[in-house]
Amino acid sequence: MTAGNFRDRVAIVGMSCTRFADHWTKSLDDLIIDAATGALAVTPGVELSDIDAFWLGTSTSGRGGLTLSRPLKIDYKPVSRLENACATGSEALRHAAYAVASGAYDIAMAVGAEKLKDSDYSGLTGENVPGDGAKTALTAPARFAMLVPAYSQRYGVPREVMREVMTKIAVKNHSNGALNKLAQFQREVTPEAVETAAVVAGDLRLFDCSGVSDGAAAAIVVRAEDAHRYTDKPLYIKALSLVAGPATGTSDPGYDFTTFPEVVAAAEGAYRQAGVTDPATQISLAEVHDCFTPTELLLMEDLGFSERGAGWKDVLDGRYNRDGALPVNIDGGLKSFGHPVGASGLRMIYELWLQFRGEAGARQTAAPSLGLTHNLGGGPGECVSFVSVVGSELG
Ligand code: COA
Repeated sequence: MTAGNFRDRVAIVGMSCTRFADHWTKSLDDLIIDAATGALAVTPGVELSDIDAFWLGTSTSGRGGLTLSRPLKIDYKPVSRLENACATGSEALRHAAYAVASGAYDIAMAVGAEKLKDSDYSGLTGENVPGDGAKTALTAPARFAMLVPAYSQRYGVPREVMREVMTKIAVKNHSNGALNKLAQFQREVTPEAVETAAVVAGDLRLFDCSGVSDGAAAAIVVRAEDAHRYTDKPLYIKALSLVAGPATGTSDPGYDFTTFPEVVAAAEGAYRQAGVTDPATQISLAEVHDCFTPTELLLMEDLGFSERGAGWKDVLDGRYNRDGALPVNIDGGLKSFGHPVGASGLRMIYELWLQFRGEAGARQTAAPSLGLTHNLGGGPGECVSFVSVVGSELG
């Protein structure tokens, strides 16, 4: 089986997500237990002992399958830990889904978990990986800040208008997060607050950045034909697409900072699998990797939601607002929900799980048809990109 015929082979039948926050009084084990038991609690008829295999995605919070098997008290089952930068949570789902699709297992669990706040992790920590001396060691905000002048120059968008666009994204995602009891930052912000906040890197200010947080999420997956044994509202996986780029962008003086080729490639793969030919009209809502506000702008074009060079106008027109034609990051996104690295990919799927079941409360959208998640690992010029498409109907 290739990824090309993966559509509707696997369904998610139970999901849970913890609040993303500074969990000073909870350990990684506590967060893992909360997410896993939460997913089991909403999946009638499935006990922990019924799960055949487990995948844990964590970027820096643990090593090996024991990071999951010990807190969950899983005895003598296959448990793997994997990592793929900020796309780690999506990878846990991808591996669990492929495992049940292959027939190797009947029920699998994907868990994403990260404990960052009391580690030394911050967006301001440089990544000084030893190499040949040619690599830069910029912080994450500094790397993504380069998107702003690049987009401004290429499309002739004045820097003050770029600021307006970024502000609109920050205000939107904070407004969405304010409706979400699981979000790290549950408060609205005004445009003035965004534009006068402390500078973090380049044109990026505090509210242009995702939060640093602790959290976990979990999903239970089965083959699609078995889904109705566990729930009357399964979430069918239409596509799972992951690509790794060549990672040469940071040493290429001609690198184009107005697009992520990895996102374009991952989206093409996902749309092919899902049979999506016009994402701008066929995707009803999307959770995308808004690690910084200009990232969300570029993603609108790379995912095919906006024409090239026109994403900024669509943002200003409110196309991606909660009440817009294509709501983006309706749960608050990385910006407001927070970004415990290994958990974020599954958190995105969790919002679609709620939306397709009609359980998203004040954030509920009307009758979605297809939902998309996009998860990025790395930065401009050197990243992996993941795209999923899901829906509640077969076919
Ligand atoms: N968005 C909104 N508010 C934020 C915030 C964010 N990203 N980060 C912190 N805050 C708020 C806190 O809630 C706190 O508010 P309060 O004073 O009302 O309680 C205040 O700002 C200070 O919080 P603190 O944790 O001390 O901030 P900080 O200066 O340590 O961290 C950043 C701010 C921007 C450095 C941090 O959020 C960051 O590193 N973000 C980027 C993470 C990243 O790069 N991830 C990888 C993406 S690829």
